[in-house]
Amino acid sequence: MRTHYCGDLREQHIGETVTLCGWVHRRRDHGGVIFLDMRDRAGIVQVVFDPDTQEAFALADKVRSEYVLKITGRVRMRDEAVRNSKIPTGSIEVLGKQIEILNQADTPPFPVDEYANVGEEVRLRHRYVDLRRPEMIERFRFRSKVTSLMRRYLDEQGFLDVETPILTRATPEGARDYLVPSRTHPGQFFALPQSPQLFKQLLMVAGFDRYYQVAKCFRDEDLRADRQPEFTQIDLEMSFVNEEDVMGVAEGMFRTLFKELMGVEFAPLQRMTYADAMRDYASDKPDLRIPLKLVDVADLMQNVDFKVFAEPAKDPKGRLVALRLPKGGEQLSRSQIDDYTKFVGIYGAKGLAWIKVNDLAQGVAGLQSPIVKFIEPIALDLMKRVGAENGDIVFFGAGKAKIVNDSMGALRIKLGHDLKLFTQQWAPLWVVDFPMFEEGDDGSWAACHHPFTQPKVPVEQFAAQKATATARAYDLVLNGTELGGGSIRIHDPRMQKAVFDTLGISDEEAQEKFGFLLDALRFGAPPHGGLAFGLDRLVMLMTGADSIRDVIAFPKTQTAACLMTAAPGDVDAKQLRELGIRLREKEQPKG
Ligand code: AMO
Ligand code: AMP
Repeated sequence: MRTHYCGDLREQHIGETVTLCGWVHRRRDHGGVIFLDMRDRAGIVQVVFDPDTQEAFALADKVRSEYVLKITGRVRMRDEAVRNSKIPTGSIEVLGKQIEILNQADTPPFPVDEYANVGEEVRLRHRYVDLRRPEMIERFRFRSKVTSLMRRYLDEQGFLDVETPILTRATPEGARDYLVPSRTHPGQFFALPQSPQLFKQLLMVAGFDRYYQVAKCFRDEDLRADRQPEFTQIDLEMSFVNEEDVMGVAEGMFRTLFKELMGVEFAPLQRMTYADAMRDYASDKPDLRIPLKLVDVADLMQNVDFKVFAEPAKDPKGRLVALRLPKGGEQLSRSQIDDYTKFVGIYGAKGLAWIKVNDLAQGVAGLQSPIVKFIEPIALDLMKRVGAENGDIVFFGAGKAKIVNDSMGALRIKLGHDLKLFTQQWAPLWVVDFPMFEEGDDGSWAACHHPFTQPKVPVEQFAAQKATATARAYDLVLNGTELGGGSIRIHDPRMQKAVFDTLGISDEEAQEKFGFLLDALRFGAPPHGGLAFGLDRLVMLMTGADSIRDVIAFPKTQTAACLMTAAPGDVDAKQLRELGIRLREKEQPKG
């Protein structure tokens, strides 16, 4: 129907007769002439109707915002005085000759260019209107470039794009499963995949050698700005490889993306061990844009006469850290410090001790703090340890290691944002040498990555060393977000059984749930490994969006619902009967 996109018209088209199709973005009546801003996915152009073209003028007078039109007219230069340098089509306009109204529109729930004060709920309910916003279209155009570039990159490296099932068995990645009842097997359920993990491993056993997929994953977990119940991975797996091979492909792809789509060239990515990341940043996904580091000070505090510090300092599960904020003593008021104390409270911290460094030349007398009197004998050693200078403030977190890590890690990030401490725009790194297992409060063990990850000990020594074993796992972190993660997998059925044992999965349960994998490992499984990128998170960071909801066309809300389609929804009684399901605690649907 069209000859050009509205947003593509430029001075080079002056004199041409063009046909445009799109939406009425805005209509202005300037006594005698009517201006229609016409919008399509490429942008906006101004179309002018004057009374000389009677029929078109009469129609232009009738149309309203978001009407769908086909317009034919001639491109001409705008008068100097009315050029608009803010839009790419701003130096030209179209003199409209014909209008065809392709469809009328009710008054939209919010004007497309004035969404800022509209609640996200309204926007999600009418997502098709929200998605008309140029900024939104731009993000999806970008997302499409990302997937196409990733596909091209992997195709060139000999990866095969293979689809894996959506209706499957549970694939443990640590979240709750979405279940789908089976009609043909009453009382039994499929699980939607949390990732294609097991299938991609089986493709390696099959000899496919290099696999990738733009894969939908489903996880029923608590949602946050960077988590959705349904999200997309760029998932890959390779045979006869070690960590270097997999990280090499993933890093190459990551660097190509940034170079080609953002014009940003990264040096080979820094690597940091999990232990170092936890020590310095109290996080396994450190945001290295912020130049603050934590410093362990438990050894200095063993004998101080201050229980808040002395107890965690002696507790093997405790941690005591200092966080120095250069010049923070001069910047932060008492009420700001109180606010930060409240902030760490969210993470379970019982307080936030601090010392303002007024004048080191005066010794302890130059330190201002509610706690300095308790730790006088070591106060100056402490200042030396953290490298304190006049004008600084030093914060302290003490308690169980987990609480200290969560609270002081978060405080570090918050200070970085509040005081604009960022030293660079992009800070990517690999985190490596993760522990194989983490111990829960109840003494049970869980896999840090997933139970198919190869521990760094030979199977013969696994039993003796498993508590301290590290995993052949790696995460790619960007600006404090985990962008991707993967590992070298177990290909020895004995090791797989030993890991299941450690996780408290009995032989019967292992056979029942993962028998197919254990079988496959006995029928000639090559050494293999892989990784998955979170595509939504990647696009969120690259486009500067605040939430992954902004880069997913039809996202779910915080309560994992779709407002537009009203999913999840009730089903009728007949459907339930067919599935052999009877509801509890809720009225049975009628019908
Ligand atoms: P993992 O569980 O680390 O690994 O997931 C890989 C990446 O997927 C993204 N991601 C999410 N994005 C949005 N919403 C979510 N709920 C969500 N959960 C995860 C993250 C994460 O880094 N099978 C393994 C990969 C492998 O070992 O090859 C896996 O799924 O960016
Ligand atoms: P209290 O003795 O509880 O009044 O605390 C004295 C000071 O230590 C206050 O500044 C508290 O904010 C701080 N404080 C208390 N508990 C902790 C903790 N677990 N970690 C760090 N500082 C704390």
